[in-house]
Amino acid sequence: MRALLTRIEQARGLDRVGDRMQHAVQATLRPQRVRDFLHGVWLGHPLHPALVQVPVGAWLSAAAVDLLPGQRRSATALVALGTAGAVPAAVAGLNDWAALAPDQRRVGLVHATANLVGLALYGGSLVARLNGRHNLGRALSYLGLSAASAGAYLGGHLAYKQGAQVNQSISELHRISDGWHPLADLAALPQRKLITRSIDDVSVILYRHGDEVTVMLERCPHQSGPLGEGEVQQIDGHACVVCPWHGSAFRLNGGEVVHGPSGNDQQVLPTRVVDGILQTRLP
Ligand code: FES
Repeated sequence: MRALLTRIEQARGLDRVGDRMQHAVQATLRPQRVRDFLHGVWLGHPLHPALVQVPVGAWLSAAAVDLLPGQRRSATALVALGTAGAVPAAVAGLNDWAALAPDQRRVGLVHATANLVGLALYGGSLVARLNGRHNLGRALSYLGLSAASAGAYLGGHLAYKQGAQVNQSISELHRISDGWHPLADLAALPQRKLITRSIDDVSVILYRHGDEVTVMLERCPHQSGPLGEGEVQQIDGHACVVCPWHGSAFRLNGGEVVHGPSGNDQQVLPTRVVDGILQTRLP
């Protein structure tokens, strides 16, 4: 299985289809507000994994209920709920997929295909059940569950092995030692300019506004882009740093994500000034 997954990750032959699909998804899912909603910016957490709970829960429940006598209506209702719930989950997933790295996109393409086959089989199952063909409906459901399970396995690989839509910067905190770390002479820090510094080899950015200084991890939570090379923009009245790689934006006051594709906030670190020296530590 590991060898197969590695082959999928490296299957450049999938890129032609993937590139076309990526353009189609980006052209369809507009404006930015819609993309942000689907990335889970409003939630501070990727939306797709939350939405997939509906089809997974409903379809698994239908599989169990299908084994019980006299439960045809309940099973049909669960299949209908799962099938309807799979649509928004798929749309949010496609939106995340379009901003992934090439190796992640290849696995994501196979993940989406398996889930699409599962969805089609559950759609067929629902039609069969509504037409009174319950045995056929049950058989199609079990086939659909098999396809969706393969899709879920690939989704797990995408998240846990390849780190898709997982906060890429938070593990940096584990490399920072306890205690306060000196960062800069406050008087020498320029106003409203991004400055990059290191603590225990972990890169952070500093942004001074008046006497307030924000210290934030530099690696973008989306795919580790260098926020220190990003631009500062005013978004909704707040100074935000915009990632140079895919445009995720984070408030410099607090680290909240305001535009995706990151669905995660950026980590800011506490600060204090001692004898004119700006210091920071782990939260
Ligand atoms: S790395 Fe993708 S938005 Fe920053």
